[in-house]
Amino acid sequence: MITALDHIAIAVPDLDKAIKRFMEDFGLPFEGVEEVASAKTSTAFFPLPPTSIELVHPLNGEGPIAKYLEKKPGGLHHLCFRSDDIDADVEHLRAKGYQFLSDAPTLGAHNCKVIFIHPKSCDGVLIELSQPSA
Ligand code: CO
Repeated sequence: MITALDHIAIAVPDLDKAIKRFMEDFGLPFEGVEEVASAKTSTAFFPLPPTSIELVHPLNGEGPIAKYLEKKPGGLHHLCFRSDDIDADVEHLRAKGYQFLSDAPTLGAHNCKVIFIHPKSCDGVLIELSQPSA
């Protein structure tokens, strides 16, 4: 079951500059940078209860965010729903015809189990499902 809007993610071409903006200009608390090798991203989280802002940047200049930034200067990249049972939610949505970017959830930032729904299944919006590690 989907239980919360876990985070909203923004793709940024200059991670340090964007971190400064969110810390200094917007005054949000900064949780730190995490490199997510499986997703080829560097991520920076800013908790803003009951949700968070996630900045995503290519890790080593490659991966899906690098491809995104080849086409756009940056922008809203995805939103993430928190799930209390991601396998059940994937099965439920697959049965309704939703397509996913991978066959099964993988480990993402914060060791959460994550999977992305294909944007063509959601009016062009990339939606991540995330189940926090127990
Ligand atoms: Co995310």
